[in-house]
Order: sequence, then structure tokens, then C-alpha cells
Amino acid sequence: MHITCCAHLKMVVDLGGSFCPLLHREDVKMPVRTLPSSFLMLLAIWGVLVPSLSHPQPNPCRMIQRMALCNNGRLSYVPVGPPCNTEELQLNHNHIQTLLNSSLLHYSSLHTLSLAGNYLEKMEANAFGGLHPLQILNLAENELHVGYQDTSHALLQLPQLRVLDLSQNGLEDDMVFHLLQNLTSLQYLNLSRNLMQRLDESSFEGLHHLRELDLHSNMLFEIDGAFSGNPKLQRLNLAFNYLPCLVEFHMTQLVVLNASHNFIEWFVAEQGLKETFHLETLDLTDNKLLFFPFLPSRSRLRNLYLSQNTVRFYGGLVDDATGENLTTSIQFYNLNGNASNVTAQLWDDSLHGDVSSVEILDLRNNQVEHLPQGFISQMQSLTRLQMQTNCLKTLNLTSEGFSGSLYELDVSNNRLSEVMAEKGTLAALGNLTYLNMSLNSLRRLPSGLFSSVESLRSVDLSYNSMGICPSETRGKDEGSPSDCVVWRNMASLRQLYLRGCGIQGMPPSLFAGMRLTHLDLSDNPGLRVETGALRALTGTLQHMGLGKTDMKSVDFSPFHSLRYLNISRNSLTQLPMSLLNLDLRMLDASENNLSTISPGDAALLAPKLRTVFLAGNPFNCCQMEWYRMFETTFTVNMVDKTEILCQDEAKITYRAGVLTILCGDSSRESVFWYLLLVLSGFLLFVGIPTVCLLTFRPLLLQKTVKKKSLKPTSY
Ligand SMILES: *[C@@H]1O[C@H](CO)[C@@H](O)[C@H](O)[C@H]1NC(C)=O
Ligand SMILES: *[C@@H]1O[C@H](CO)[C@@H](O)[C@H](O)[C@H]1NC(C)=O
Ligand SMILES: *[C@@H]1O[C@H](CO)[C@@H](O)[C@H](O)[C@H]1NC(C)=O
Ligand SMILES: *[C@@H]1O[C@H](CO)[C@@H](O)[C@H](O)[C@H]1NC(C)=O
Ligand SMILES: *[C@@H]1O[C@H](CO)[C@@H](O)[C@H](O)[C@H]1NC(C)=O
Ligand SMILES: *[C@@H]1O[C@H](CO)[C@@H](O)[C@H](O)[C@H]1NC(C)=O
Ligand SMILES: *[C@@H]1O[C@H](CO)[C@@H](O)[C@H](O)[C@H]1NC(C)=O
Ligand SMILES: *[C@@H]1O[C@H](CO)[C@@H](O)[C@H](O)[C@H]1NC(C)=O
Ligand SMILES: *[C@@H]1O[C@H](CO)[C@@H](O)[C@H](O)[C@H]1NC(C)=O
Repeated sequence: MHITCCAHLKMVVDLGGSFCPLLHREDVKMPVRTLPSSFLMLLAIWGVLVPSLSHPQPNPCRMIQRMALCNNGRLSYVPVGPPCNTEELQLNHNHIQTLLNSSLLHYSSLHTLSLAGNYLEKMEANAFGGLHPLQILNLAENELHVGYQDTSHALLQLPQLRVLDLSQNGLEDDMVFHLLQNLTSLQYLNLSRNLMQRLDESSFEGLHHLRELDLHSNMLFEIDGAFSGNPKLQRLNLAFNYLPCLVEFHMTQLVVLNASHNFIEWFVAEQGLKETFHLETLDLTDNKLLFFPFLPSRSRLRNLYLSQNTVRFYGGLVDDATGENLTTSIQFYNLNGNASNVTAQLWDDSLHGDVSSVEILDLRNNQVEHLPQGFISQMQSLTRLQMQTNCLKTLNLTSEGFSGSLYELDVSNNRLSEVMAEKGTLAALGNLTYLNMSLNSLRRLPSGLFSSVESLRSVDLSYNSMGICPSETRGKDEGSPSDCVVWRNMASLRQLYLRGCGIQGMPPSLFAGMRLTHLDLSDNPGLRVETGALRALTGTLQHMGLGKTDMKSVDFSPFHSLRYLNISRNSLTQLPMSLLNLDLRMLDASENNLSTISPGDAALLAPKLRTVFLAGNPFNCCQMEWYRMFETTFTVNMVDKTEILCQDEAKITYRAGVLTILCGDSSRESVFWYLLLVLSGFLLFVGIPTVCLLTFRPLLLQKTVKKKSLKPTSY
């Protein structure tokens, strides 16, 4: 049977008038007429409030050109409302359990059908009869594991299907095998969130045109010879499975391989291949790698994500163990017990494959103690090196030979005590913009490190022991080790973080010639911040961190651009007056000694502030006008509101938001009004239903009254 669109045109036109029928109004009114008029009024209000709840629309589709949107409609069938020349039909999140042979007869021009989230269990074998143009089919989030056999027959009728989403359908290996039989035209296949365990030659055979395959969040523990029939496969997602290794990797056509969040100990590409691998992105985040992956010997790899593994380099180890016989061949067994030997020169750090095109190397959270010689200098296009949380002890910028393209260098949270650089090296780092060396034990840095690098915008040196050089220090030779930094004349620098550096004093002409927008000096107790020392920054500074610095009387008034200020943990007994005229967006004044904020100050701050932190202060419960002012200003977010406490005259602690009745007369009066409000609210709440009950159930009431009065009394 072949249905043409014209045969149905008339029917569609006929339906047009009753597209969104409003037929219920009469039905409802008729029985209502006999009810008391007050009930009618309530019903009318109810009708205004929840029209959609009371009358579900039978045809919920909305047309946008040739696309019919019928999502979230609780439909249990495919509607016929949309015209039959509709090209895209979206029926996501309805209740269609079976796609019948007749369901789609009406739509012969469909090229996209979306049935995600429908409890769909099966499709009858002829459900797509006559739907040859269908190219895109989304069946995600259904129950196709129930009727996969019928469904697989139905899919056979789609010779042009390019895109198929079968994610989250409870599918096991053999079900997938059935469903994919002869879908030779598929280019994109999504099988994520199913129950697949093993892949082999037969899994995707015949899918010659497949380009993208998503298998994330299955239970895969073995891949044995799969993908040999998919010469065009470019993107493969294997994330969140149970794979223990990826060896003999030889998919030269692949561009993106995501094998993150598995249990991979070994990644070994086939070393003998002369061909260049097309691999550009390899994601092995969150695995169990012990070794840097054994990459293809020729590749275009640009993005290498290896964070959250236990990678380290073993070069030093072998030197120590000369004479030992170190294995260079590893045996891997598959489920059938077939062994394959993979030979890799485990201990030779220079043989980890071709990294010459790598731009992003993410090695965060590993155990790297040193970088092999020549390792970094091979990466002539390296822009981002992320080595946060490793075990690096030293870093010699000269011998590593970073490329001029380096943009971000993050070596924070390592064990660095010294960073070295020879004269002339630093100027070569002309593109370095973000430098993070926080959380190390740095005692020495090459002098001129920050002033010689031309594009440096952000430096984080927090939690090291690097002091600030006294102002009389003359600039030393570039590169020579220095135990303090001269913070002057770094024209490009905008963000400087010097938290917890044990800084004690601030020399007078500090920051001269600099245009910082962010400065964080928090966690330097005893810093004794003086306005004069920061004078150079008054015009530019937008973010200032002075938490836990023992600051007392800084004059903030010259800092016109300041928007974010952190003065927490400073034992302040009142907010600095000079804050009030600034255009502050964020203020952190938590953990000080504030007992109140005067109503005048609060009135000045409230309209400007967006975010404020004030917990950890010993506020006085009887002087909390500021709290109510901030609370009623909707633009202010008191982030730690529930933790703001206050004490009354008897030193009893309350939450600031909770009512207190122990202050002076005026507040007692306000409590009276508050109670009155609560009482009237209560009356409203209880009263209205009672009145309604009395109005609409007069008979019932009479009965109850009668019953009560008929009860025999005990005397
Ligand atoms: C798939 O196609 C092959 C060859 O075209 C055919 O022999 C086989 O029967 C088809 N499989 C199914 C399940 O239709
Ligand atoms: C596959 O489907 C999952 C779940 O529906 C979705 O999160 C994922 O983005 C899809 N994959 C691709 C490549 O679109
Ligand atoms: C790999 O997959 C995970 C999980 O789906 C995702 O979070 C991550 O962004 C992917 N990696 C890449 C490089 O796309
Ligand atoms: C290394 O292997 C050779 C040959 O198998 C053996 O003779 C030698 O004793 C081994 N050396 C050590 C230190 O185990
Ligand atoms: C793998 O290597 C072991 C030890 O070198 C050897 O005994 C075994 O025969 C090799 N197996 C294969 C399949 O080559
Ligand atoms: C840093 O590396 C360079 C080049 O390899 C070398 O000449 C220099 O001695 C090294 N510096 C230190 C302090 O080891
Ligand atoms: C420096 O970085 C910018 C931005 O990332 C980039 O466009 C430029 O090519 C880089 N310069 C060099 C020499 O790599
Ligand atoms: C520097 O690294 C530390 C720790 O890894 C991190 O907390 C901090 O936010 C980073 N600094 C900047 C400016 O990104
Ligand atoms: C303010 O500084 C303190 C102390 O250094 C810190 O704990 C807090 O997180 C900072 N507040 C904000 C909002 O960043």
C-alpha cells in the first residue's frame, strides 16, 4: 500500500477548524447551574488558574513550517492533526507504548521522527512501511529491550536511515546485534546508557558508513576485533565503561576517541604501522594508567587528556636499577583465553610515540615527578600544559624548552621548591598568559620571571614562601635566582594572587607602573595593609582580597573601580566608612567583630550590593535593622543568611532570621503586629474552607448538627 499526501489533504483541512477545540465550556456549565453562585465563582477562579490541568488538549501539536512539535503531551498514539506533508515529527515525552503498523501511515514525507522518552516497547514490523525518506530516528529513553525483535524488523524498512539514537533502552549485546542488522546507511549511532558488555567483529559489521558512535555508560569490559567493518568511523565515545586496557590500537581513521572514566591501565597503539593516525583528541581522563600512553608513532594528536590517573615517568628508576632484567613485553588475554603479546619499551621515556602536534596536555592529578628530557621540547605547538596536583620537584624552564606558543602553564599543587631559567629563556615565552604556581614550596624564582614575559596577564603564586622585595632592591640579572619578587612595571599583568605567602610588610612604591584589576593578598596575617602601598592601583583595581590580613584602617575611597572586596577574618568592629561611597557589587565581611551595621550605612550599601557575606560576626539582636533592609532588598543575595547569628541582652544566641522578643519597646510593638499578621493569616486559611463547607454542604451540616443534638446526654 502506498499512501500519497493528496488523499489526506482533505481530511487535514477538515480537521483544521477544530485544532484546539474549546468544547468543554458548555459541558462544565450545565451541571453547575444548580449549584450555589459562590461555588460558581470559585470554579471560575479555578478555571482561570489551571485551565490546562482541567482539560488536556486532544491535539497538542504546534507547527513550525513543516515541523510538528507534539512533545510532553501524554499522548498514547501518534496524532493525525499535523498535515501529511510534515517532514519532522517530534513526539518526545509522551506515552506511546507501541508503534503500530498504522501509526505513521498518514505521514509519508517524514524525514525526522523523534520518540524519545515514551515507554516505547516495540514497533510492529510494518510500522515504517512506506516511510522510505526517513533519515533521522530518535528512540532514546524507551523500553525497546522488551520488543527488540519486532522492532528490528521494522527498522529494516528504512534504507535511508542516517541517524539513529537508541540510548537508554536497556539493550544487551545480542539485542543491539539484532536491531542493527542491515542498517548499512547509518552514519551516526547512539547506544549510550545501555547494558552492552562486549564488542567483537559482529557487533557493528555492515555499518560501512558509520562516522560517529556513542557507547558511553554501558558495561563494556572487552573489545575484541570490533570496528574493522567501519572504515569511516571518526568519533568513538567509550566513556564510563569497565574497560581494563586498550591495546593494539590501530584505528588510523579515528579523529576523536573518548575512553575516559574506565579502568584502563594500558593504552598501547600498534607501533609497527607506517600510516599516520588521524587521531586529534584522546581522552583518557579518570582511568588507572601507570604509564604515559604509548601513542602511535605518527599522529596528528592535538588534545591529550590524561587527568586523574597515576601516570609518572620511570626514566630515573631504570638508571638506579641497572643490571635488573626489566620486562618489555606485556601479555594480554581476552575472554576466550587467547593471549596477545604487546611489546613496548616501558622504561624508555623517549618512546611514547608522536606528540609533536600536541596543543593541550592535561596531566592534572597524576604522579609525575619529572618530565623526561626532550619531552616538552618535542611539542612545538603546545599551548596549555596542565600539571596541577603532581609531584614535580624542580622545573628548569630552559632545559624543558617550552615552545613560544605556550599560553597556559599550571604547575600548582606540586612539590616545587625552585623554578630555574637561564638568561634569554624568558623572553622566548612570549605567549605565556596564565601562570599558576600556587601551592608549592617555592623559595626561589628566576629574577625577572614576571617582567620578562610580555603577555603575562595572570599570575598565581599563592601559598609559597616568596616574599616581596624591598623597594630599594635593584633589578638583578635576568634569570639569576632570587628569594623575593619585585612587583613593579609589569605592564601586561592584570591578575595577581599572593594569598598565604607570609608577606609581612608592603614597601612604598609597590606595584608602581602596574595596571592590576585583581589583587588577592588574603591569608597574610600581619601584612598591615596601608593605603599608600596600593596607591598605584587606585584607578584599575576591581577585585581586592584582604581577608585575614589584620587590616585595620585602609582608606578605600580612592579605589573608584572596586567592585569585589573581601575583608573577612580581620577582627573589624565596624565597616570601614570609606566603603560606603564605592560602587561595590560583592562584600565579604564575614568572621569579623561587627555588632551591627548602622541603618544609614546599610541604606547606602543595599541598593548597590549584589552579594554579601556576613556570618561569623557577634551581631546584636536589638540592632538588626540592617538585616531586614538587606533581606527586603531583592537585588541583594545574603549568601550565608542562615548562618548569621545575633545575641540578645542576656547573651543568648539566635538566628538572625528568627523572631526575637527580648529587645526594647519598639521591637515589642513590631512583634505585636507580626503576631496579628500571623493570626489573620491563620484565620484566612482556616476560615475560607469552613465558609465554603458551610455554603456548599448545607445538608451535610444539618445532618451533623442533627446527629449531635440527638446524642443522648450523660445527665
Ligand atoms: C541483510 O541483507 C543481506 C544481504 O543483502 C540479506 O541476505 C539478509 O537476509 C538481510 N538480513 C535481514 C535480517 O534482512
Ligand atoms: C547520545 O545520547 C546521550 C543520552 O541521550 C546524550 O547525552 C549524548 O549527547 C548523545 N551523544 C551524542 C554524540 O550526541
Ligand atoms: C568524554 O566523555 C565525557 C563523558 O561523556 C565528557 O564529559 C567529556 O567532555 C568527553 N571528552 C571530550 C574530549 O569530549
Ligand atoms: C637477567 O636474565 C638473564 C637471562 O635470562 C639471567 O641470566 C640473569 O641472571 C638475569 N639477571 C638478573 C639480575 O636477574
Ligand atoms: C608471548 O610471550 C611469551 C613470553 O615471551 C611467550 O611464551 C608466548 O609464546 C608469546 N605468545 C604469543 C601469542 O606470541
Ligand atoms: C637548566 O637547564 C639548562 C639547559 O639545560 C642548564 O644549562 C642549566 O644548568 C640548568 N639550570 C640548573 C640550575 O640546573
Ligand atoms: C599566541 O596565542 C594566541 C592565542 O592563543 C595565538 O593565536 C597565537 O598564534 C600564539 N602565538 C604563537 C607564537 O604561538
Ligand atoms: C591556581 O591553582 C590552584 C590550585 O590548583 C587553584 O585553586 C587556583 O584557582 C588557580 N588560580 C587561578 C588564578 O586560576
Ligand atoms: C574571602 O577571603 C577568605 C579568607 O582568605 C576566604 O576564605 C573566602 O572564601 C573569601 N571570600 C570569597 C567570597 O571569596
